[in-house]
Amino acid sequence: MSKENFSSEQEAELEKAVDMLNKGSLVAIPTETVYGLAANAFDEDAVKKIYLTKGRPSSNPLIVHLKNSSDLKLVARDIPNIALILASHFWPGPLTLILPKTEAISDTVSAGYDTVAVRVPKHPMTLALLERLNFPLVAPSANRTNHISPTKPEHVRNSLGENCPMILNGGACAKGLESTIVGFEEEQVILYRQGAISQDDLETFLGHPIENRSGVELQNHSPGSSKKHYSPKTPLFLLDQMDHRFESEYNRIAYLTLRPSFVSVEPHRSLALSETGDLEEAAAQLFDILYLLDEEKFDCIVAERMPEKGLGKSINDRLRRAAEM
Ligand code: TXA
Ligand code: MG
Repeated sequence: MSKENFSSEQEAELEKAVDMLNKGSLVAIPTETVYGLAANAFDEDAVKKIYLTKGRPSSNPLIVHLKNSSDLKLVARDIPNIALILASHFWPGPLTLILPKTEAISDTVSAGYDTVAVRVPKHPMTLALLERLNFPLVAPSANRTNHISPTKPEHVRNSLGENCPMILNGGACAKGLESTIVGFEEEQVILYRQGAISQDDLETFLGHPIENRSGVELQNHSPGSSKKHYSPKTPLFLLDQMDHRFESEYNRIAYLTLRPSFVSVEPHRSLALSETGDLEEAAAQLFDILYLLDEEKFDCIVAERMPEKGLGKSINDRLRRAAEM
């Protein structure tokens, strides 16, 4: 596949990552969505380390990352036609498919479910890494459970500390939001997690509306579906209309809006997710800004709800969960 031109430093990093993964160690890997904490999907002991390192309940299954869609048959069976159509359009890319699993997928990976979550990520270093391994990688986001997903190597360090043995540096993640997760009922597509591909984009591609079950019922069965998730340590309030009402209660407030539209004075601070109100840029910035605001120890974050269209819906989903106390 890809004949990438990596620097000699990147080559050395890749070789080290290959070696560590072959030995059953964990490596944080860059993807186009967020950094993942990766292990050999076929090595039970390695997979268990992921749950321990993240503090993740064993009831929450992992996503399997493949080097290409031809490998899909190794991990999934009885694949609906529509799943293949989605895979050929969106892979490599931020779409995760929930499919019936094969014997190759252990109950540790699938948390006892008879399904597997699977995608082909789109990042040159991670694709090169997968090419050099003879197994797929399981990789949840490389953060402590319930914390913010990391979109830069320093976020991984911030969230996991020295418990993460190696971070493969692939720079900042282009999309900055986790993959969109869909499952299937016969040939019907069901949306389980809104993410880097918007519901609108999926519906435009399919030519019809799809059922959105994100945040519904799925307590165990899904996607960051526990209400509190993706949370900064700083309390976050989500408003339809920005105003100064919290200033009587909190000394230092960070205001987070889509565009630079809200005026605040010291010691408060206003930040915009995008100069021009672009939702893709806003999505790419969101987690980075939340990590930053946590570090700067504001007393609270007051965030503006995004327009309910395109990636605005995915961003609102994350903001809502971050706002759950
Ligand atoms: O963008 C992403 O998806 C990133 C990168 C690293 O690929 N990964 C990621 O993984 O966000 P994680 O574990 O943080 O979120 C995956 C979600 C989990 O909430 C889990 O519940 C759900 O996928 N999931 C995994 N396997 C599933 C299954 N068999 N059925 C339903 N949900 C599943
Ligand atoms: Mg996660």
